[in-house]
Amino acid sequence: MAGNRTFTMIKPDAFGAGNTGAILKIIEGAGFKIKAAKALRLTQEKAGKFYEVHKERPFYNDLCSYMSSGSILAAVLEKENAVADFRKLIGATNPVEAEEGTIRKLFAKSIEANAIHGSDSDENAEIESRFFFSKLEEV
Ligand code: GTP
Ligand code: MG
Repeated sequence: MAGNRTFTMIKPDAFGAGNTGAILKIIEGAGFKIKAAKALRLTQEKAGKFYEVHKERPFYNDLCSYMSSGSILAAVLEKENAVADFRKLIGATNPVEAEEGTIRKLFAKSIEANAIHGSDSDENAEIESRFFFSKLEEV
């Protein structure tokens, strides 16, 4: 992926509220190209696997329940400096701390129901993309 791809999920709160289109518009407006996308609902088990790095955190079970509470949109995005630029676009984990104009400031409901996920490294972008998309080389 060489630093030009990231992985995102529009989370159940934002997807369920009908904000997927508005969020994708912001993402595309910021110069990201959608390389793969699908709507799906995670099982509690699959959400647990995705967020396994957080399994010792006190909010882990709640997070997995929340992430499997409704449909999500999983997508692979492409842009130069994708991981860092996308983290900037989505804003801080806690929407109270997110900068004006960021996706979380605009759409997140709480620190847990925070509208969107963005990979935090090139390595995780690759792992997370492959978690959802097995034929990435074709997109
Ligand atoms: P992601 O892009 O979803 O990985 O968020 P992040 O990288 O900004 O935050 P982090 O990886 O630390 O946490 C993963 C997710 O767990 C967050 O996006 C929240 O949905 C949830 N989360 C993080 N901290 C808390 C917390 O203190 N309480 C609760 N209830 N949920 C949290
Ligand atoms: Mg994270």
